[in-house]
Amino acid sequence: MEKVEALNKLLANHAIHYQRLRNFHWNIKGPLFYTLHQTFEDMYTQAALNVDSIAERVLALGERPFSTYREFLKNSDFDETPDHLKAKKMVEAIIEDLNALISQENKYHEVAEGDEATLNLLDDLIDMQEQDRWMLKAFLDE
Ligand SMILES: [Fe+2]
Repeated sequence: MEKVEALNKLLANHAIHYQRLRNFHWNIKGPLFYTLHQTFEDMYTQAALNVDSIAERVLALGERPFSTYREFLKNSDFDETPDHLKAKKMVEAIIEDLNALISQENKYHEVAEGDEATLNLLDDLIDMQEQDRWMLKAFLDE
């Protein structure tokens, strides 16, 4: 896989992940409502910035980023999740997304070799997502 193809694939996954966070922000119910409604908002606010950073890296490399929902859905590894999940299942689904994104970003170091800006972007994403994953796992631990 070449670098721009890899970045576009990552972009599609981040875009679906972003919408999943919005979905959960809207549809969360139950005693964890206030905590998770806010947490999902914090996360989708950052995810929107991440989507933008990846797309603009593709542009800086002289190519066109995936830009439509149709392209995101067609090229993402992620399925959209139903919105009737219980609160803790929502957190588990987000942890699964983060696991997949982190492993994809680690894998893509290979195709980005020698391109410091892309490598930095991948590292920044991994750094943020590993922190989010740690906090969500700590939240689930009873
Ligand atoms: Fe809101």
